Amino acid sequence: MVHSRLEGFYKKSLQERLQVVARQTGLSEEEEEVLLGKKNEDALKIADLMSENVIGLMQLPLSIATNFKVNGKEVLVPMAVEESSVVAAASHAAKLALPKGFTAKAGEQIMIGQIQVMNVKDVKEAFRNFNKQKENLMQKATDTDQVLKNLGGGCKDIIERVIYSKRGKMLVFHLLVDVKDAMGANAVNSMCETLKNDIEKITGGEVRLRIISNYALHRIVEAEAVWTKKELGAKTIEGILDAYHFAYSDKFRAVTHNKGIMNGIDAVVIATGNDFRAVEAGAHSYAAITGHYEPLTHYEKDKKGNLVGKIRLPLALGIVGGATKVNPVSRIAVKILGVKTAKELSELVASVGLAQNFAALNALATKGIQEGHMKLHARNIAVQAGAKGWQAEEIARKMIKEKKISQARAEELLKKLKKKK
Ligand code: MEV
Repeated sequence: MVHSRLEGFYKKSLQERLQVVARQTGLSEEEEEVLLGKKNEDALKIADLMSENVIGLMQLPLSIATNFKVNGKEVLVPMAVEESSVVAAASHAAKLALPKGFTAKAGEQIMIGQIQVMNVKDVKEAFRNFNKQKENLMQKATDTDQVLKNLGGGCKDIIERVIYSKRGKMLVFHLLVDVKDAMGANAVNSMCETLKNDIEKITGGEVRLRIISNYALHRIVEAEAVWTKKELGAKTIEGILDAYHFAYSDKFRAVTHNKGIMNGIDAVVIATGNDFRAVEAGAHSYAAITGHYEPLTHYEKDKKGNLVGKIRLPLALGIVGGATKVNPVSRIAVKILGVKTAKELSELVASVGLAQNFAALNALATKGIQEGHMKLHARNIAVQAGAKGWQAEEIARKMIKEKKISQARAEELLKKLKKKK
């Protein structure tokens, strides 16, 4: 069983942290070596197969957010992100949400594939023919992916639409595909491709685009957490509510509010080898679903005056196929998370997004975010000056107190510390 409450985890060395995570999640020696960059030659070979014109690797720090409990289960959350404070903030927000943690629920794992048809002379006739053939088309699409079919996935429905555009009338067919534990782009795109000739015969038109829609409206995930009045204080809760309503009422703020949510979401999405561009596109279009760009989270007080935070957004994530399986680091990230389904992964990712947003609002509504950033900045400067572990903490604390954060000062303080020893 995984324990996510890791007191003083941040004070340990990188190697010690890895040991803690490896022990809890059963990482092999080889997996540890991958994380430590000792298998970079293999990584280069894999990278060369993943993209075109590859000349090297671009690495990001892989961190662990602690204190997360989602649907009653403690979990260590791998996050790949370059921005300082993100992981610390998420871990802190998750800690404040304990003992209950987050409750989350993901919907069906249905993705939409679109087939565009132009130059249809008789739309009514085309739809009549389509409805006669619909079952066959669904079967044919499902047969395209035998693995998915064997798992109970495949094309579950096809919906016909007419779109009136400046280029004239278009027929568009939506394939509703149960993609199970995959992100689904490959399966859905192949199914759309398979139906091209049939759709042309049925409609008498010309098929143009055959592609997945990243507006993953069927894969909506919700997560919720309660931060108590006892823990936060009534004033902070009022500040967070003011911050939330600022975002709700103003697009300039809403975009930044949602950016903060995506700080957490993207970090887990990237760590697990998922397509963060798809997630971003889906999330922001969902934020504007009412025609008014809104925050993806919602805050209110319960009867006891506690703060209830909720998040709702589409998440098209997979744990099979794609980079998640090819990239060894992503495979390890999924292993650390211990998730067995894409649904579970989505519930976790939504919870991280909510935690990240709460952390930002909590800081912004009280002491501001610069203080936290300064702490990390000071620690980084101390490390650059040669300080290790507790020394870096001590030097950072001192430099902040003196309001003098520089490499020269860090070096001086380090010399003093060493002398003391
Ligand atoms: C910075 O990366 C994210 C924040 O700007 C989010 C927010 O303002 O809510 C702190």
